Amino acid sequence: MAAIWYRQTGVSLVVLWVFLLSLFSAIGAVKHGDFKKCDQSGFCKRNRQYADTAKATANSWASPYKLDQPTIKLQNGKLTATILKSLEDSTELVKLPLTVSFLKSGVARIEIDEEKRQKGLIELRHGSKVRKERYNEAADWAIVGGLDLGAAKIKASDKTQTVVQFGPDYTYEAYIYHNPFRVDFMRDGKVHVKLNGKGYMNMEHWRPKIEKPIEEVKEGEVKEGETKESEAPAVEPSIDESTWWEETFGGNTDSKPRGPESVAMDIAFPGYEYVFGIPSHAGPLSLRETRGGGDEKYDEPYRMYNSDVFEYEMDSPMTLYGAIPFMQAHRKNSTVGAFWLNGAETWVDIVKSKSGSNPLSLGTSSSIDTETHWISETGVLDVFVLLGPSPKEIIKTYTDLTGTTSMPPQFAIAYHQCRWNYVTDEDVKDVDRKFDKFNIPFDVIWLDIEYTEGKKYFTWDKQTFPDPLGMQKQLDAHDRKLVAIIDPHIKNAAGYHVSDELKSKDLAVKDKSGDNIYQGWCWPGDSHWSDCFNPTTRKWFEGLFKYKSWEGSATNTFVWNDMNEPSVFNGPEVTMPKDNVHYGGWEHRDLHNINGMTFHNATYTALLNRDKVPKRPFALTRSFFAGSQRLSAMWTGDNQADWSHLATSIPMVLSLNIAGYPFSGADVGGFFGNPSSELLTRWYQAGIFYPFLRAHAHIDTRRREPYLSGEPYTGIITKALRLRYSLLPVWYTAFYESSKTGAPIVRPNYYVHPDDETGFDIDDQFYIAGSGLLTKPVTAEGETKVDVYIADNERYYDYFDYSIIAGAGEDHTLDAPLDKITLLMQGGHIIPRKDRPRRSSGLMKYDPYTLVVVLDSKGYANGTLYIDDGESYDFVDGAHIYRSFEFKDNKLTSDNLSTSGRKTKEYLKSMSKVRIERVIVVTAPSEWESRKEVSVLQDGKKTKTQLFWHKGDGKKASWAVVGNPGVFVGSSWSIDFS
Ligand code: NOJ
Repeated sequence: MAAIWYRQTGVSLVVLWVFLLSLFSAIGAVKHGDFKKCDQSGFCKRNRQYADTAKATANSWASPYKLDQPTIKLQNGKLTATILKSLEDSTELVKLPLTVSFLKSGVARIEIDEEKRQKGLIELRHGSKVRKERYNEAADWAIVGGLDLGAAKIKASDKTQTVVQFGPDYTYEAYIYHNPFRVDFMRDGKVHVKLNGKGYMNMEHWRPKIEKPIEEVKEGEVKEGETKESEAPAVEPSIDESTWWEETFGGNTDSKPRGPESVAMDIAFPGYEYVFGIPSHAGPLSLRETRGGGDEKYDEPYRMYNSDVFEYEMDSPMTLYGAIPFMQAHRKNSTVGAFWLNGAETWVDIVKSKSGSNPLSLGTSSSIDTETHWISETGVLDVFVLLGPSPKEIIKTYTDLTGTTSMPPQFAIAYHQCRWNYVTDEDVKDVDRKFDKFNIPFDVIWLDIEYTEGKKYFTWDKQTFPDPLGMQKQLDAHDRKLVAIIDPHIKNAAGYHVSDELKSKDLAVKDKSGDNIYQGWCWPGDSHWSDCFNPTTRKWFEGLFKYKSWEGSATNTFVWNDMNEPSVFNGPEVTMPKDNVHYGGWEHRDLHNINGMTFHNATYTALLNRDKVPKRPFALTRSFFAGSQRLSAMWTGDNQADWSHLATSIPMVLSLNIAGYPFSGADVGGFFGNPSSELLTRWYQAGIFYPFLRAHAHIDTRRREPYLSGEPYTGIITKALRLRYSLLPVWYTAFYESSKTGAPIVRPNYYVHPDDETGFDIDDQFYIAGSGLLTKPVTAEGETKVDVYIADNERYYDYFDYSIIAGAGEDHTLDAPLDKITLLMQGGHIIPRKDRPRRSSGLMKYDPYTLVVVLDSKGYANGTLYIDDGESYDFVDGAHIYRSFEFKDNKLTSDNLSTSGRKTKEYLKSMSKVRIERVIVVTAPSEWESRKEVSVLQDGKKTKTQLFWHKGDGKKASWAVVGNPGVFVGSSWSIDFS
């Protein structure tokens, strides 16, 4: 195809090289022309027009969708019925089967299909062989649980409506209105979510293409058979048909064999002013208005069409590399959500309006309603309504459906050193040695595309990497790992075994003919794409990762999946044509946003299966979808060495965390460009709080490993990285707990303080899981102070010197010179850490712990600590330690939270010497001044140990230290301070 493209367009290789070179050039701005705006995306434009018509003719126009009452049936938690759509130009009624599943979790799932397409009663154009149905497999990729049906009963039913009670003790209600079809979801007697309340529901039904003579219609003129808008019946309004059958963008024409088939619906949250989610976008956590009142910040809807957006811009609803179509609406005391399960290109408009103008929201506390309009190009309509009522419950129910992050190996949450590229194996070894020389910890070094022979993945460039195993052996000596990149494009080169097999086994994505392998351009030049929707491709792909097959890989080699949107340099919008064909006969348009996930899932499974005794894999992905969080970490793609990118990385990572994807981070230092020493230092100070911590840099940038910065920068960066390592017990525990509950690992203010209205849109400071640690990174040049907002009445303490920060509902200005990280501890928590500096996390395995007990105003604190071997699955068989610490009535106790299994005993034995070497009590009461000892009870034995009390000065809290209490991390014990 690329060759054809090259021949057809007459573009010379020189031009191609200019294009490729532009990818290497210095910082610039996104090329807007490469990506569609809503009015260049036919279905988005049509649906916005549809909404406009509905709005403009509100008095006379009604949604043409009506529920056929006799078809309504409710059985075993599932309501089925048929929706009838009336048409403007025919008396035929389009049948749309409806299913509403009332799930045990209290979630309601609404699915709408189209009978004709379902039954294959449509004609495809251009002799296409693709599937006739609406794409209905998104759930197979995204959903892993939570679908058990719950109890539901009909409370009332008449001609106009059916009311179903469901959820916990039947406390939720769905008011299903028949004509037009719409649903109001109620909780506690109030409407929280409304579907199709505005009447923007639109399922573009199948119709044959009718060649119409082009007629000129003068403005205001009414054609025969048409009615004026004001007299129009309840039928689908007139819309722009010009993009129904073909659509051209950037020189590529989309053949659209199934014609128009978009699905759209308005989802309103009456009384909710704030909406969050639908990552990934480079903007604030609190989503902005995209239409409406006139003072909206954006005039484009938020777009989700996974794309390689070169030099993406800040504060923008433009699409990025991954999509999670899950939104939550929040107000004081309540959070609700909608999960729009669709893998096709999707746009979301957001409008906020005063409740006074909207009778729907009467009786709610906020005076603002948020109305959203979801528009997808294809697929069945499949939306989950989540009724909360808290942020915690919303994320729990969402991750019950799509899965939680799997427990990563420990090294994966430590520091990763990457650049494009470490150029030889000697270079890698040298970097490894330099880190040691400067006493800077790191766990993983990364290889970008240049390590391969001519961008042929699963090979090594023999000139530059003659001894990959020797290199990895050196890394292994300090328990360090290697991550190598494997991209989804496969170089089209005869004799390259991967390419040969891909072709001979017929495992690649096809072009629109459905017969020919699709060809496009990516890093290797002419390439094909493995189709990981195909189970045979996935099986084959797995084989490529076997040590025997990928020579030079070792047990400490892990994988980075990039360019899996997929990025195609000469494709429309830098990706594949939508009419490409995947396994099962689906068009690429149907599943574009899921594509990246199929690839990283295959990588993860391959890593899992390469060892006889499986070890926890690590795979990083750039492209993702709902469910990606289960198996991969992600990063926010090609950012820039610019302060605005550092600042925006924080809401971006928070947005991913509250959308169920905790293992996320941004390139520390910025990918494009050369950061100043100050920016690089500040980026490390922020980056140590990303759940995924990796420094990365473009091939054109200067080297910037932390030891190169010079003093004071190297020292400050080293301190920051050591802080990350010291707090690894907190991070690891957070990952474990998140793997159980789906809870975000970094948490915005609204999540932690859901009733604090002032803090709802704060997205530049955040908490680390449930540890009580609160950070606010400096993200502006020359800044030496930060304003930290404190939501609650608890006292907070500076992590390093125990200065007291208190006062609810206000900003507190704190000094933040370059060498200072703003990290506070909220009263009421116990923070486990390891204070001995080591070269890598693996070498900290048996190091002793320090517990920092930060008492609240009532003298209480608690916390948890999870430990396992950091790499195997033995933890599933009980080889782990999970403790709860509590300080109450002057006594600190450690209790067991873990469940035992067949490997518990052996593991506890291996950890039996790991001690708590120190307990620090912050805000230690003054009565302790005279106390010189505390008593320790462990294994029925009582001992005494010394207590050292330090007086605070009013601004700083008093604190006390118990040195070496002689207690072990895997045992139950208590320390009595009374
Ligand atoms: C694009 C990725 O986003 C970037 O991180 C990587 O360095 C380049 N591809 C080269 O592989």
